[in-house]
This record gives sequence, structure tokens and C-alpha cells, in this order.
Amino acid sequence: MKTSRIQAPTGMHDILPDQQKGFQRIHKVCENAANFYGFGKIDTPILEQAEIFLKGVGASTDVIEKEMYILRTKGGDVLALRPEGTASVARAYIEHGMFNLPQPVKLWYWGPFFRHERPQAGRYRQFWQFGFEILGDQSPVIDAQVIQIFYGILKDLKFKNLIVEVNSIGCTHCRSYYKKLLSGYFRSRSVSLCSTCRKRLRENPLRILDCKEEKCQRIIRQAPQMMDHLCEECKKHFKEVLEFLDEIDLPYNLNPYLVRGLDYYSKTVFEIFSVPKSKEEESLEKKSALVGGGRYDTLIRRLGGRDVPGCGGAAGIERLAGFLQEGPEPQKNADQSSQIFIAQLGDMGKKKGLVLINKFKEEKIQVAESFSKDSLKTQLGRADKMGVRYCLILGQREALEGTVMIRDMKTGKQETVKMDKVVKEIERRLKK
Ligand code: HAM
Repeated sequence: MKTSRIQAPTGMHDILPDQQKGFQRIHKVCENAANFYGFGKIDTPILEQAEIFLKGVGASTDVIEKEMYILRTKGGDVLALRPEGTASVARAYIEHGMFNLPQPVKLWYWGPFFRHERPQAGRYRQFWQFGFEILGDQSPVIDAQVIQIFYGILKDLKFKNLIVEVNSIGCTHCRSYYKKLLSGYFRSRSVSLCSTCRKRLRENPLRILDCKEEKCQRIIRQAPQMMDHLCEECKKHFKEVLEFLDEIDLPYNLNPYLVRGLDYYSKTVFEIFSVPKSKEEESLEKKSALVGGGRYDTLIRRLGGRDVPGCGGAAGIERLAGFLQEGPEPQKNADQSSQIFIAQLGDMGKKKGLVLINKFKEEKIQVAESFSKDSLKTQLGRADKMGVRYCLILGQREALEGTVMIRDMKTGKQETVKMDKVVKEIERRLKK
């Protein structure tokens, strides 16, 4: 009998005590971000009905068609080792009737995932991810906030040279027209495409945009771009996402060919990379996104639930751990409940609200917000229920004047202060 070497399965690895330090550091930073932005933790099973991913992620995607580990149980169930977390979270949202909770529902997760990929640097068959998902809110401010959360986590982990790439892949309506256009374009050049892309042309021409082969790249660079074919609603949504990102000074590149490999996406998609600093890092960093995500407004419906929009992202923990710089241990946020609620009115108010949240985060002061609730009455009601001490009101007028109204929820007294003084003023009041 042939004796095999005793070792971990191909593409899978141990996380040894030395490496645990990096993992723990990342976990702490994620936990802090989750607490700050009001995300609840969810753990879903490592196995799911395979159907969840077939329907959710899409049967003809590489992740499902080629990479998913499927097993048949003795009882005849067809289960899959989860290749990603979003479909599982959506399944849990439906199963536990989370549409009955105040929306949006914000959930985060951390754990191992499985994809039968060709092992290479930064690509494993069992890898760890953390993810943040916001379900039940279609506003573009949410897309910007998701990107802001991941960007903030990477900054807190002392990543430098970050590049955020964003695109919009439209909705089912405008994308179907674009796909036809793209099919026509690639069909007339199919002899020059690689064999995988010729197959993609039959199944989903959008995937060709993802191809890294030089000969395909030459053709892709001349291909029609989704951005020129978005419907009015998708165009408006994307424009607003970019405006929010501009407002919080978050640098990004528009990448018209970013499509992502999972079928549930609509409208905004994004990836975050770190540009290589040295030769050794180059091969890994050039190809590998640290974070990937986007909006998925049809996922819950695909899984048999209601029409509930969603947006989120996930990061590969090994990829982050590989580039962690030595640095001071992140402090765990003091478990504090919010004393501050930021209420906003209109687009300008929302934009300034995002900026203000960042300022409070820098000073480690917990704030709550409810960006999806447009009426001031609803927001004040929510603030009241949460029992916060101060509500910061940012209407169109305040946003234009660069001020904020502080409402003392105990006495009902209101006072207007300059935007750049508000954090200090709140600090002073909370110390009293
Ligand atoms: P994804 O782009 O497939 O998206 O994976 C997210 C991140 O997980 C990648 O950017 C990468 O860092 C890491 N990753 C993926 N595959 C591997 C691998 N084989 N080895 C090591 N790391 C890997 C998703 O999974 C979506 N669920 C993200 C999302 C959440 N979209 C909306 N919400």
C-alpha cells in the first residue's frame, strides 16, 4: 500500500500560534468597527443546502460551477461547504423573519470558507473571511458607508497605498441590454479570445471582462462600457455613491471592467487592493483583492424571500495577515452604548453626516444613526427609544452653513454649533 505523507489537505493550512497574533489583531479591529457602526455578529453553519449557493451566487459562476465542495449525506441531502458568506446571511435573514426587525439589519461574520481553487500565493482552498452586510436599505449612502467601513478597517490595520476600485453593473433591466451589446462585440472577435472566454461568451459575456489573459485584455480595452448604458435610476444611484465617497474624501478609481464573479450583484461593485511596496509582495498584491463587495438587491428574492435590497463586502483574512505591519495592539473599544444620535435631512445632510461619523470615530466616541429613515420625526423617535442624551441634527440649512444643531434629549433644548467644533462640544458635555 502506498504511504502518503501526513500533511494538511492541498490548499489548506494550520494557523500556528505565531500567526494567531495577526488574526487576533484583525479580529479586534473588526469587532471595534462592528460595535461602532452597530453591526450584530452572526455565525452561520459551515455547511448549507447546496441550493442556497446555486440559486444565490449563480450556478454558472466559477465559484459554484468549479470550486464548490459538495457532499451528499447518508440521508440524501446535498450540502455544500460554504464558499462565501452573503448567501448564508441572506438565508438566515429570510429564515428568522428579520424583515420584521427595524431596517436596515446590519450583520457581520468571521470564519472559514472553502473553494476548490488552484492553490497559489494568496489563494487557498480553506481561507478565512470577515464580512459586513446591510440588509433592507437601498439608499446609495449605504454603498458608500460599506466601502468606508472596509477602508477604515484597513487604515486601522495600518495598510498604506490602498486603492479602491468601483463600478456599477446596473440592474437586471439595463444589464440585459448591455450583455447583448457585449455579446455582439465579443462574438465578432471570438477567434482572438482565449478558450475560456469563448465558453464565457456562450454563458455570460460579462465574465470575459474579468479575464487576465493579455490577448483578451487587448479586446476588453475597446469593449463597450456598462457605465454608458446604465438606466436613469442606476445612473443616479451610482452618481450619488460617488458623491458620498467624494464628501468623505475616500479616494477611488473608476474601473469600468470590474464585474465581480458572483451573480447576485446589482448596481455598485467594489474591490480594495494595496499597491505593492516590494518585489516579494508584488506577485501576490497585484492579483489579489483584499476586499470585495457590492450591492445585491435581488439576492433575497432569488432565495425565495421578499424584495429586500442589500449591500456588503468581505475581506480575506490570510491576505490581510500576510501584509500586517508590526504595530501597537488595537485597543478594544470600551463597551459604551451610544449617547449621540446623528439625524440627517436630505442629501446634503446625509453627506455631512457621513463626515461627522468619521470625526466621532477618530475620537472613539460611539454614535448611532439611521441613514435610511428620511423623516426627522422617525429619526428622533428612534433616538428617543435608544435613550441617547444628544441628537445632532443636520438639515439642508445646517449642511450649507457648516453647522449642526445639538438637541438635548432630556431638556429638549437646542443649540446650533459650528460643524468643526461639534465633537469637542459633545466631549465637553459628556464629561460633565
Ligand atoms: P469574494 O471577492 O469572492 O467576495 O471574496 C472576498 C475576499 O475573500 C477576496 O477579496 C479575498 O480577499 C478573499 N478570498 C476569496 N477567495 C479566496 C481564496 N481562495 N483564498 C484566500 N482568500 C480568498 C465574496 O466572497 C462576497 N461574499 C463578498 C460580499 C459580501 N459581497 C457582498 N457582501
